[in-house]
Amino acid sequence: MGTFTKVVLTATLVVFLAVRWTAPRFDAESLRGARVLVTGASTGIGEQMAYHYARFGAQIVITARREKVLQQVAEKCLSLGAQKALYIAADMASESDPDKAVDFALENLGGLDYLVLNHIGPSPFSMWDGDVEHTRWLMKVNFFSYVQMAWRALASLEQSKGSLLIVSSLLGKMPSPFVAPYTSTKFALNGFFGALYHELAMNNSNVSISICTLGLIDTESAMDKVRGVTNVPAYPATDAALNIIITGATRQPELFYPWFTQIVTLSKDWFPSATNYIIQNSYNYNP
Ligand SMILES: NC(=O)c1ccc[n+]([C@@H]2O[C@H](COP(=O)([O-])OP(=O)(O)OC[C@H]3O[C@@H](n4cnc5c(N)ncnc54)[C@H](OP(=O)(O)O)[C@@H]3O)[C@@H](O)[C@H]2O)c1
Ligand SMILES: *[C@@H]1O[C@H](CO)[C@@H](O)[C@H](O)[C@H]1NC(C)=O
Ligand SMILES: *[C@@H]1O[C@H](CO)[C@@H](O)[C@H](O)[C@H]1NC(C)=O
Repeated sequence: MGTFTKVVLTATLVVFLAVRWTAPRFDAESLRGARVLVTGASTGIGEQMAYHYARFGAQIVITARREKVLQQVAEKCLSLGAQKALYIAADMASESDPDKAVDFALENLGGLDYLVLNHIGPSPFSMWDGDVEHTRWLMKVNFFSYVQMAWRALASLEQSKGSLLIVSSLLGKMPSPFVAPYTSTKFALNGFFGALYHELAMNNSNVSISICTLGLIDTESAMDKVRGVTNVPAYPATDAALNIIITGATRQPELFYPWFTQIVTLSKDWFPSATNYIIQNSYNYNP
């Protein structure tokens, strides 16, 4: 082995170990009794987050529109070890339901340690066809309700030195075809909560914000859309959920899951034409 190779390998190892050692350790005990509100928790990643928080012994409020399903998820949370598992049905397209859900959690848990904003409204996987009304509605569900709930919970999170978790997407960093309205809502989230992250830091706030960039995850709703359309690999919802929870508990500002979403985020700016070529050719599309 040449001297140069040795130096490069040693340097790589040192950087790797330094990153491992300085990464904050996740202490599962810190979530015992934690007061958590998870939105969009009737199914998918939100449901899996509820189960993980339950196993860690948290006190949970879950919300989504379908009350019957929420009831079943809450029951399972109790059987998994949640200290409390309550639910409230709420439609995040409404003006008042976002506040109602936060108030319910604040009253029943006596405050909040984690606000996990995760819900999304259903949106078609198809080329933009001019449906402005759908886009306006989706903005309410996927964006404005997040802004509203975060503000409503902020005072309590300041008191508890709590955390705000925003579940976003690679499509909040990089536009992608067939999902223009959805992509817009995720860009809006990254913009708004990126700004709020600075403001909280400048205020010496007690609250941490984590913005989570996810790639394709194997939830039913996502798989129904992309089956046969793309062969981008899908990652397990339960693992995505655990990674989001750990990111919040260790107060990290960002999560990239799976890891290569960070590479894609960089490559789209460094090698735009190559990235655009790959994006446009990763779908079965014949006009
Ligand atoms: N799956 C992926 O490939 C992927 C990739 C990147 C990012 N993400 C992000 O991960 C998060 C979770 O995604 P997912 O795939 O788990 O979604 P999902 O399975 O479709 O779940 C969406 C959740 O939101 C709720 N919801 C829908 N409309 C609502 C409304 N109007 N008001 C209140 N709640 C509503 C749904 O319950 P009800 O129907 O009962 O209301 C459900 O609990 C989202 O923020 C998504 O953008 C997912
Ligand atoms: C941060 O927490 C401390 C006590 O834990 C509290 O006294 C202080 O008011 C909080 N900061 C803000 C901005 O609320
Ligand atoms: C920052 O502090 C100022 C002054 O106390 C307050 O008015 C403002 O709402 C705070 N901003 C945030 C995002 O907490």
